[in-house]
Amino acid sequence: MPEPLLAALARLHGPLEAPTTVARLAQGVAALQMGLTQDRARFAGGSYLERADLRAAYQTYYLCANAPKLWPALDRLAAHLPEPFSVVELGGGPGTGVVGVGLWARANGRTVQHTLTDHRAANLQAAQALAAALDLPVQTRLLDLTAPDWAGPPADLALMMNVVNELPATADAGLVALLDRLVSPDGFALALEPAAAEPSRRALALRDALVAGGWHAHLPCPHSRPCPALAAGDWCHAAWAFERPAFMAAVDRAVGTRRDLLQATWFAVSRATPQGRVDARVVAEPRREKGRTRARVCLADGSLTHLELQKRDRSPENIAFNDAELHAGLRFTGADPAGHDTLRLPPGGAVEVLP
Ligand SMILES: C[S@@+](CC[C@H](N)C(=O)[O-])C[C@H]1O[C@@H](n2cnc3c(N)ncnc32)[C@H](O)[C@@H]1O
Repeated sequence: MPEPLLAALARLHGPLEAPTTVARLAQGVAALQMGLTQDRARFAGGSYLERADLRAAYQTYYLCANAPKLWPALDRLAAHLPEPFSVVELGGGPGTGVVGVGLWARANGRTVQHTLTDHRAANLQAAQALAAALDLPVQTRLLDLTAPDWAGPPADLALMMNVVNELPATADAGLVALLDRLVSPDGFALALEPAAAEPSRRALALRDALVAGGWHAHLPCPHSRPCPALAAGDWCHAAWAFERPAFMAAVDRAVGTRRDLLQATWFAVSRATPQGRVDARVVAEPRREKGRTRARVCLADGSLTHLELQKRDRSPENIAFNDAELHAGLRFTGADPAGHDTLRLPPGGAVEVLP
């Protein structure tokens, strides 16, 4: 966690590791945790962020748990973003995306023009205060995503974090039309949503609506066909190891949570066609057993299957598969069907794990 972020949060919310701050934030985190996971209907629309105590818990604990999820995605999109690049963020809340994109840009010698939108003025003010404390420029605008009315120059990146799942499914047609207007022809829309069944499916449904509307899936999907996980009533997410700052560990101890793994259902889409071949994406933690390595993969033809390498078939050409991680992209040749729902790599089959 970047030290300047922790210092800025402390200036706004008090010394983060002080027992009184931890106790206050823990109360808010406990209420948010309950509302965001179990009482979602009451929390829909984000009215909870109108409450100063819950907004403070969100802008500290939840912001620190969500901003870093942007960094691997931005690393992968970096080569596609012009310099300077513009971002319009939808449902930006108290500033997670402003901080995440702004600190990434600063660390990578990039310049970003960030416009944060939300339908609650209290969020815009809270985001402005945090951006000022970090010396990050930001513009803010009220925008209701259930009836979006947008005029302005197209952006290089439209960002949606943890907001799609708060919108009714009926909002998707309007969101696709908004993104059509909002994003430049070579630009991207990037969504990161909670990794739980219901919000994940909600995000994947928006992905499907976008590809049906002519957008191409760039990441992490290896195809722009309908999501096979969603069609099967399933879902899909990525996970990243996370080193919590001390104040989060203290809040976790008070609340009984333990946030040392960050997870999200995420996708990046563009109207530009993806370059480079990806044959498959690993979509579940690979199983490394005694006699074989086996992974659930999403294939470029839009189907799901298992890819497996038997120990006796290992060769210098295919051994890379052994170390493929969750969400690794793969290029492979020569796999043969081996019973229902499995492709088996032969000794002569080649596997490349994409960077
Ligand atoms: C869980 S917060 C996410 C905030 C921030 N994007 C993040 O990831 O930390 C959901 C945000 O979506 C906003 N939101 C919910 N419904 C909305 C709508 N109809 N129009 C615009 N924003 C909305 C809420 O006000 C809230 O700020």
